[in-house]
Amino acid sequence: MLKLSLLLLLFSRPASSVLLGWVESPGYPNGYKSPDDLNWTRCAPKGHTLSIRLVHLDLEDSRDCENDGVKVFSDGNLISVLCGKKEFEELQSSVNPQLVSASGGCLSLFFYSDFSNTKRHTGFRGFYTVQDYDECEDDADSGCTQFCHNFIGGYKCSCRHGYHLDANKRTCTVSCSEDLSGRNEGNVSSPSWPGPYAENANCQHTLSVEAHLQLELHFTGVFDVEQSTDGQCIDALRVETPSRTLGPFCGHSPPPSPFLTHSHHVKIRFTSDGYGTNKGFSLRFQTRDKVCPTEATAHSTLSPHKPEYQQGDKATVTCDLGFVANSLISMLTQYETTCQSTGVWAPLYPCNPVDCGSPDVPKDAVLQLVDSENAHTEYKDRVQFNCSSDYYTLEGDDTYTCSADGEWVSDNGRTEMPKCTPVCGMTKGSAALGKILGGVNARLGEIPWHLLIKVPKRGGATLIGDRWAVTAAHVVEGVGETSLVLYGGLVDGRTAEAQSRPPSVTAMHSERIIIHPGYSQNIPDNQRTTYDNDIALIRFRSRVDFGPNLRPACLPARNSDLMESEQGTVSGWGLTEVRSDRNRLVTSHMQKYADIGVFSRAECENTPSNPAKKRMSYTHNMFCAGKEGKDSCQQDSGGPFTTPVLSARGGPYSLMGIVSWGPPCGERKYKGYYTKVKNYVDWIKETINKVETSQG
Ligand code: ARG
Repeated sequence: MLKLSLLLLLFSRPASSVLLGWVESPGYPNGYKSPDDLNWTRCAPKGHTLSIRLVHLDLEDSRDCENDGVKVFSDGNLISVLCGKKEFEELQSSVNPQLVSASGGCLSLFFYSDFSNTKRHTGFRGFYTVQDYDECEDDADSGCTQFCHNFIGGYKCSCRHGYHLDANKRTCTVSCSEDLSGRNEGNVSSPSWPGPYAENANCQHTLSVEAHLQLELHFTGVFDVEQSTDGQCIDALRVETPSRTLGPFCGHSPPPSPFLTHSHHVKIRFTSDGYGTNKGFSLRFQTRDKVCPTEATAHSTLSPHKPEYQQGDKATVTCDLGFVANSLISMLTQYETTCQSTGVWAPLYPCNPVDCGSPDVPKDAVLQLVDSENAHTEYKDRVQFNCSSDYYTLEGDDTYTCSADGEWVSDNGRTEMPKCTPVCGMTKGSAALGKILGGVNARLGEIPWHLLIKVPKRGGATLIGDRWAVTAAHVVEGVGETSLVLYGGLVDGRTAEAQSRPPSVTAMHSERIIIHPGYSQNIPDNQRTTYDNDIALIRFRSRVDFGPNLRPACLPARNSDLMESEQGTVSGWGLTEVRSDRNRLVTSHMQKYADIGVFSRAECENTPSNPAKKRMSYTHNMFCAGKEGKDSCQQDSGGPFTTPVLSARGGPYSLMGIVSWGPPCGERKYKGYYTKVKNYVDWIKETINKVETSQG
């Protein structure tokens, strides 16, 4: 009897509960073992929920139920943890109401006990039921926009008079679409006009008339379409033509009337959401002849300017500054057009922004476009240039803008592209004070422009650009244009061709050798009476990469004259004062340099004789220099004489002279003759320019 009343009490709440069974701890009611556990899961059918109702709970009590306990999960989420002893009333009032699944969901129960029971506990017992879930209790659950009807295991939506249920079976809408094709006049209004318009409306009125006519709309009466406080359309009226959509329109002010659509096909679309009471709109439509739009195409103007263009009117389309029309034959900024009976301009070429195209920067050049991947090249777009290497400076302007004529123009109005020119005459900035003959060993990077030629004639050369070197004509005369190898980035000449070359060593292969036209070639050394114009240019097969140990010297300024006794530094891998066993001077493995001074004209005019006992000539294209115990020597030829002296730290260092000729070093006259580079700056620049421009 007690059991029956208890069940009645338990069933008293939801009307249609069905008792499905019992769940209890192992051994109930004689006490569970320790350790022990139980895993239990049941699911509710669709449209139903599952409940567990505990009638007894007596487990060992512990903090957070860590020893023994019951955990209940709803679809895997923990919803309750229980332990200790609880009275029936407490279970009924605060535990059982929580043990409910979601609609169609599952409940799992996990019982566990550990080893540590000091006292016997009877365990737990409960039963489980399923009951119908009332989806209609909550609008969000059902989604019904008007009426909701619950039944066991499901629900159904229905609509008020005048509405019908949408395909989604939830939303109630009104039938408000209408095909008005062929009608030249009529009325269109929001559903239920003049009453408040229906909710969830999606109305489409189709208007269509003959092609030479256009539809004209007149809004009549109030206009009241729901709008949010920030001006957004909540409900909306749109006017669609094949080429564009006008609107959305909402709020209290109607679109301008008369509303010319310029089209003979128009769709009037009206949408509303599920809330609000607004009156909507009403319009009258009629037709009139098509006129052409006052803007033929975007980014252009029409002249003569008229408020309205009729069929047959002629006009000129002028693209806005920076825009051009592509007429299939050519790019135009202006063209003639005629208003057609269909209300369109013909011909009609859209005005597109002028495109300057990507500035042409050769792929492997030092000059580069900043962020070239993202560069925009249309009218008013800007691009920026920089040099990819610190050994160059940008000459010219760095920022260019695409002009209306499709040309890149710099901020200073230049149209030629900037150039990256090598920074010349700089070294790592270290110099040990020193005495080739009477010289000291150079350190790597100290004279980074000095190049070594080993064969066929040992000599030197000077790097003056990333593809050019200058040397003495007599060093390279008779040498095949493409057979010369020059080495840079080294001080020990032996490392040039070594199997494992130090990484600093760079080999440059000649592509062209240009001997000064004024140099008299093909005269045996011992017959020569002049070394006038002893200068030659060498172009490499490819651009060299500058680095701390390989960088160019500057060319002198045209007006820079050497003063008497002015000091400079000469360097070379030639003979030194060291003598061999047979009392011959020995070639140096190491690059040596010495600071020497420029001699007076009188001193220089006092020239030595050649081996044929003929006096050598001294010309204004030479100077001579030396110092007690210091001179350049055989095999130093072609190498640099630079000012200021290397010991004057900083530079920039300019190539003033090229080792050319002199008395045999063994004679200890300490006087060497140098090609006066200053006299050849124009020839060098012009020659390089000619070759580079012809190479493209
Ligand atoms: N003609 C020599 C050479 O081919 C350079 C001689 C320089 N002589 C002098 N005493 N400075 O290496």
